[in-house]
Amino acid sequence: MKTKTSYECEKCQYISPKWIGKCPSCENWNSFKEQDVKISKTPRKIEVKEAQSLSISETTKQERIKTNIEEFDRIMGNGIVPGSLTLLTGEPGIGKSTLTLQIANRIAASKKTLIISGEESVGQIAARAQRLKLNEKNLKAINEFNLESALESIRSEKAEFVIIDSIQVISSMDIQSSAGSINQIRYCTEQIMELAKTKNIPVILIGHVTKEGSLAGPRVLEHLVDTVVHFEGDRFQQFRMLRAAKNRFGSCSEVGIFEMTGEGLKEVKNPSEQFLEGRKKGAIGSCITVAIEGTRPFLVEVQALSSVSPFGYPKRASNGFDLNRLQILVAVLEKHAKLNLQNQDIFINIVGGIKLSEPAADLAVLMAIASSFLKKPIHENSVIFGEVGLSGELRKVSHSDKRNKESQKMGFEKIISSGQFKEISTALQILN
Ligand code: TYD
Ligand code: MG
Repeated sequence: MKTKTSYECEKCQYISPKWIGKCPSCENWNSFKEQDVKISKTPRKIEVKEAQSLSISETTKQERIKTNIEEFDRIMGNGIVPGSLTLLTGEPGIGKSTLTLQIANRIAASKKTLIISGEESVGQIAARAQRLKLNEKNLKAINEFNLESALESIRSEKAEFVIIDSIQVISSMDIQSSAGSINQIRYCTEQIMELAKTKNIPVILIGHVTKEGSLAGPRVLEHLVDTVVHFEGDRFQQFRMLRAAKNRFGSCSEVGIFEMTGEGLKEVKNPSEQFLEGRKKGAIGSCITVAIEGTRPFLVEVQALSSVSPFGYPKRASNGFDLNRLQILVAVLEKHAKLNLQNQDIFINIVGGIKLSEPAADLAVLMAIASSFLKKPIHENSVIFGEVGLSGELRKVSHSDKRNKESQKMGFEKIISSGQFKEISTALQILN
């Protein structure tokens, strides 16, 4: 056996044959530590596995665990696969602990369920469960941040379903670095994964991310786990979306919609109806659009406010819509509709804390701005959607039929889209 020295970055595990001051991968300074790698010179014995036909593979026919919270089961691909590891991420305060408590309570009706929380005491969890009227006998919780004790608890409690809140506060005694460091997070996840796979226990790991998704921990985990689910929305608004970013056992195109209420998270079965609740009909700067998330269409209100800027450099801000896209739309309006927006502050808000990421929302945002600037309301029975091109043309968007159908179902008769108009200049004439 021969040993060879190499250097490993403590932050990102980048390996270099020489010591270097700054890591070329994660750009941290002074993060390299020496390590010895043993190289065996004896010939290795190679085992060859027999390839199997895909049609007889047993793994495809796994029974799934249903929570009967449809919005959750659907995005998981019709329930949770036994032995799977799911990472649930989201900003602090978005409702991860609440959602997992509700899921755990449902599963506890048929399986022994254990919540391992390093963030909250058992008393706090119990108080929340009581407030949400969740009281399954088989639902248990412990306050633990040591990995080895947590794994032992899973074994001794004979848990059949486990939630770990959160992976950032769990740490192992075998790893030197502090809780939340990449080494800890990766090691702990690997250990939990091993237990999950060998004992066939499904586990949900909670991971915090910041607004920019910047906290490195959960990002590192994404390729380790089977399923990654993001809980999105604005913590100060009522609606939340659950989205699968990766799913080894189902499609990634579904979203689940929830509403945060005094009694925890409620499923939103008819999003259009709830998103439009309380809207002021025919208000200036307000426009209804129809978006598609996953396979579901829903109506949502886009609001714009344009007002003369007191400063030389006008402000553009947006909530729920991409800011760069907004800047482009403003430029298109100036150039192709001849609206003088140069001295206007422009603000966009998508009502309810919903994020619109599809280009199909372009036309609605543009029309809302024009409505506010021209002080002319859009007819209250109109639904507007379409992608706007840089030459002021309206482009076709996907699933137009579904969008039209949903609009009609909700009683909106005037549909303004690329089906009716080819240019934004002609579409804008509806404001006259
Ligand atoms: P929580 O699940 O603790 O968020 P996370 O685990 O993602 O950090 O929920 C946080 C917020 O949700 C908190 O600010 C209060 C609010 N909330 C409600 O509005 N209603 C409820 O029934 C519950 C349990 C929480
Ligand atoms: Mg929490």
